Amino acid sequence: MAILICGGAGYVGSHMVAELLEQGHETVVVDNLEKGHKAAVGKEARFYQGDLRDSLLMDKVFTENKISSVVNYAAYSLVGESVSEPMKYYENNVVGALSLLKSMLKHDVRNIVFSSTAAVYGEPSAIPITEDSPTLPVNPYGETKLTVEKILKWYEQTYNLSYATLRYFNVAGAHCSGEIGEDHTPETHLIPIILQTAMGKFSSLPLYGNDYDTPDGTCIRDYIHVTDLADAHILALKKLESGSPSLTYNLGSGNGFSNKEIIDTACHVTGRKIPIEQKGRRSGDPAVLIASSEKIKQELGWNPVRTDLETIIDSAWQWHSKYPEGFKNA
Ligand code: UFG
Repeated sequence: MAILICGGAGYVGSHMVAELLEQGHETVVVDNLEKGHKAAVGKEARFYQGDLRDSLLMDKVFTENKISSVVNYAAYSLVGESVSEPMKYYENNVVGALSLLKSMLKHDVRNIVFSSTAAVYGEPSAIPITEDSPTLPVNPYGETKLTVEKILKWYEQTYNLSYATLRYFNVAGAHCSGEIGEDHTPETHLIPIILQTAMGKFSSLPLYGNDYDTPDGTCIRDYIHVTDLADAHILALKKLESGSPSLTYNLGSGNGFSNKEIIDTACHVTGRKIPIEQKGRRSGDPAVLIASSEKIKQELGWNPVRTDLETIIDSAWQWHSKYPEGFKNA
C-alpha cells in the first residue's frame, strides 16, 4: 500500500517524502508546482503534477495506486497575504481540502494526516499552548486551517474518516543530506532571511519590533526541525493505520527563542556578520508562541532529536550555502 503526499514538492512535504522513502514506504506525490519544486521530490516517489481540485486527476491517482493514507500539505501559508487576499486562501486551502476528501471517500480511503498550524490559536491566553487552548485565529490563514479541522471532525462522525491534525509551530532546518531545504518565493520566514543576509543576498535583516513584553524586547518562537516534524507525521500515520480514533497534536520543541537569540546563534553558526535594520512591529505577530507537545510525546512516543538551536540553524545553513539559488541549481 502507498502513502499519498499532497503538496509533497513543498518545503515540509518534501522532507516527509524523504523520510518515507528512507523507511521504505511506497510514496505517491501530487503537487501543482505553484510553490513546490519537482527537484525536491525524492526520485523513487511516483509524481503527478496537478491540483487537488482536479477530480479527474485525483481519480487517476487513486485508481493507479493502492493508497492506504493521505497526508495533505497542499495549502497557501503566508499570514500577511491571507489578510489581503482571503478569497485565494479559502479557495485553495478549504476548497482544495474538500475536494481531496471527496476523492478519498469516493475511492474508500479513510485515513488523513492534516497539516495545521499554531495560527489556529491566534493570540494565546497562556503559555505553553496546549491542544485544548482556545482556537481563535486572528487571520484568514489560521481560519482556513481551523475550518478544515472542523470539516474533518464532522466527516469523521458521518463518513467514518480517521484524521490526525498536526498543528505546527515554527518549522526550520533542512535535510541532513543538504540536498533539500527551504526555498520560498517570496521568503518571509526569519531563519532563511537571516541566512540569506549572512550570505550577502540582502544588505540587512529587517528586525520587526524590539518593544515586546519579552526579556530582550523581540518576539519569542518555538522552532521545530523539519525532519523531527516529518517523524511525527509518520507516527501519526502508523497510529491511524492501526485503527486509532482521530488525533490532534501540537508540534513544537517546547523551547522559546527570541528573534535576537536566533540572530546571535546564526552569527555564531555562519561566522558571518548579519547587519540588522530595526523596524516597527509586524502586524499580527503575537509576542510569544511556545507549544506544549507533551501530548504527542506521551501518546505516540514522539522524540524530537534535533531540538538544539545550533543544530537546526546549521542544517539550514548547509542547504543555503550549497544551493544559494535554491532549487534553481539543485
Ligand atoms: N521576523 C523578522 N524579520 C523577518 C522575518 C521575520 O523580524 O524578516 C520576525 C517576525 O516578526 C516574528 C519572527 O521573526 O517575530 C518569526 O517570524 P516568521 O515569519 O519566521 O514566523 P511566524 O512566527 O510569523 O510564523 C509561524 C508560521 C506560520 C504560522 C505562524 C503562527 O511560519 O505558518 O507562525 O503565528 F501561521
